[in-house]
Amino acid sequence: MSLCHTVTLTSYPFQLSKFERTLDMVAAAVPVATAPYAAPKSLTCTLGPPWQGLRGSLGSARSLQCPKKERRCTRKAGSCNVTAKFELKPPPYPLNALEPHMSKETLEYHWGKHHRGYVENLNKQIVGTELDGMSLEDVIIVSYNKGDILPFFNNAAQVWNHDFFWESIKPGGGGKPSGDLLELIERDFGSFEKFVGEFKAAASTQFGSGWAWLAYKANRLDVGNAVNPYPSDEDKKLVVVKSPNAVNPLVWDYSPLLTIDVWEHAYYLDFQNRRADYISIFMEKLVSWEAVSSRLEIAKARAVEREREEELRKREREQAKASESEGVEMYVDNNSDDSESE
Ligand SMILES: [Fe+2]
Repeated sequence: MSLCHTVTLTSYPFQLSKFERTLDMVAAAVPVATAPYAAPKSLTCTLGPPWQGLRGSLGSARSLQCPKKERRCTRKAGSCNVTAKFELKPPPYPLNALEPHMSKETLEYHWGKHHRGYVENLNKQIVGTELDGMSLEDVIIVSYNKGDILPFFNNAAQVWNHDFFWESIKPGGGGKPSGDLLELIERDFGSFEKFVGEFKAAASTQFGSGWAWLAYKANRLDVGNAVNPYPSDEDKKLVVVKSPNAVNPLVWDYSPLLTIDVWEHAYYLDFQNRRADYISIFMEKLVSWEAVSSRLEIAKARAVEREREEELRKREREQAKASESEGVEMYVDNNSDDSESE
């Protein structure tokens, strides 16, 4: 009987608070190191995107978190080794589908070489490290290390950023959003046009390589692993942020909704040094507002779920405190009775 078995999970990872994440990492690691041999099996977990807070809906379902179709985790029970392999996820359309706004050649290089390189480098880097076996999001959060980034961070974050980028655009995109997304944009930026101006400004003024983002800010103010760029702003609002190199809003505990890659490799074949033209085409012809709207709904639901969980924890603390007080009163009463009987 072989001592090796493969567990392939199809759960998309989810983002938790840093404290919850830490607990999950520890909890996920312990069974790997101590679990006795079990028969080969496959597990399927509830799907959801990375920024979706699923703790409440999943309850105690924890186990090893693996992005859908992105990785295979192999446990060798005898030696307790864990290897993880992140996979190159293709764009959700053919490589020529964005023409004439983004050429097939650009995607062949951008996705086929740059994105692929990040995946391959990450897989090489994390083998045998404490990050081997973590979800992609956990690798990003842990390796950001308060901005003093560890070697794994850049490749892990670039894999996540590019997956997110390809799904932020679509053939026949652009135009204007509608519904809740448009209402929130108008509430938080004044108008759609003002938002576009702010987003374009962030993308064009990011010095060197990096990203611009629309994100839903519903974090806890103490993000722990990073300096919150909007510490005094209210939560549950949309913000535009830009980030250098591979940094993304996950490290601030924000929920990303839209991103544009402003590394030169994203636009140089089609626009040469005209980054502003690339940004305009991105906004007018490529953005998938459907994807952004879906992400917003998930981010809002996540914020509500977090509030519910925090309220629950608060009530539990208050009940525990009340129980302690009752215990003290009973102790005092008993002493009082004793002294009277004497
Ligand atoms: Fe890129």
